Amino acid sequence: MGKGSGYGKVILFGEHFVVHGIPGIVSAIDSSTDAIVTKAAVGLNIKDDRKTSKGYSEEKRLQQIESIERMLIDMKLDPKTPLDIWIGGNLPGFSGLGASAASSVAIARAISEEFCLALSNERINQVAYEAEIAYAGNPSGIDNTASTYGGLMWFKKNPAGGPDFVERLNVQGQIEIVICSTGKVANTKAMVDGVAERKKANPAKYDALFEQAANLAVDGRRALEAGRLAEVGMLMNKNHQILQEIGVSSVELDYLVDMARKQGAIGAKLTGGGGGGCMVALTPGEDLQARVANAFKAEGFEVLTTKIGAVGVNKN
Ligand code: PMV
Repeated sequence: MGKGSGYGKVILFGEHFVVHGIPGIVSAIDSSTDAIVTKAAVGLNIKDDRKTSKGYSEEKRLQQIESIERMLIDMKLDPKTPLDIWIGGNLPGFSGLGASAASSVAIARAISEEFCLALSNERINQVAYEAEIAYAGNPSGIDNTASTYGGLMWFKKNPAGGPDFVERLNVQGQIEIVICSTGKVANTKAMVDGVAERKKANPAKYDALFEQAANLAVDGRRALEAGRLAEVGMLMNKNHQILQEIGVSSVELDYLVDMARKQGAIGAKLTGGGGGGCMVALTPGEDLQARVANAFKAEGFEVLTTKIGAVGVNKN
């Protein structure tokens, strides 16, 4: 029996733009997916015990099977190797939190242990990237990197296909955030493909928006590292606006973003692929965090409260 786990993540700046080589900022969250893998007599038997949005497992089922086959091939194992796989942990299967990457990292680590492969974190990250292709089509690699290593990081995809540019970021103290799920499952691949198509059809508009996204990531990093949280929040709001302009927000996400701001969040934006999935709000201080979280809960939304820069998400 092999075991493994992988962190969930929240993107503070740059989702979608990172796919096209623009830098982004991502933080692992203190929720993870766990996996147990055992060699089986026949077939691929997956027991998924994660708490998920309605329809999540069904929607992701074929991509999940493909992702496991891709991982086995990358690990030089037969893609049809019979396996029993259990998936659980406290990271909910909500779109936008890197749940697919977290499950891939967890499963890759568990396979590595079960087959005595002793894969390094670097290899686990590569294997999980292969798996992400099944879910995202053309992933940036930001999700599997955050899921493998944890912590808060600056991420820029390497356009030449070599190692990506990843730097750990240090923040002063810990910053409370609230994540709220729309409850809607989103197809990351369709969202990523949609942006690429619209960019191709309207390069002038999209090039300008991509340049703005790059500037936001740079400014966001400076403000985060200097502890200028009001500025970080304002930049997150701007980031949400350009995500709306590239067509990846939704009525539900805009509603959550507005509500977070009305409750006093100093910044709020969609996080991850959009089109459903989750919103992240910057809510420094436990009182503000509780106020924003409780407002969502009172309307029946699922909420996660966590911190950026927290010790528990830096362990790898
Ligand atoms: O929705 P998620 O958690 O799969 O995040 C996707 C993030 C994207 O930037 C849209 C895609 C990527 O590979 O970076």
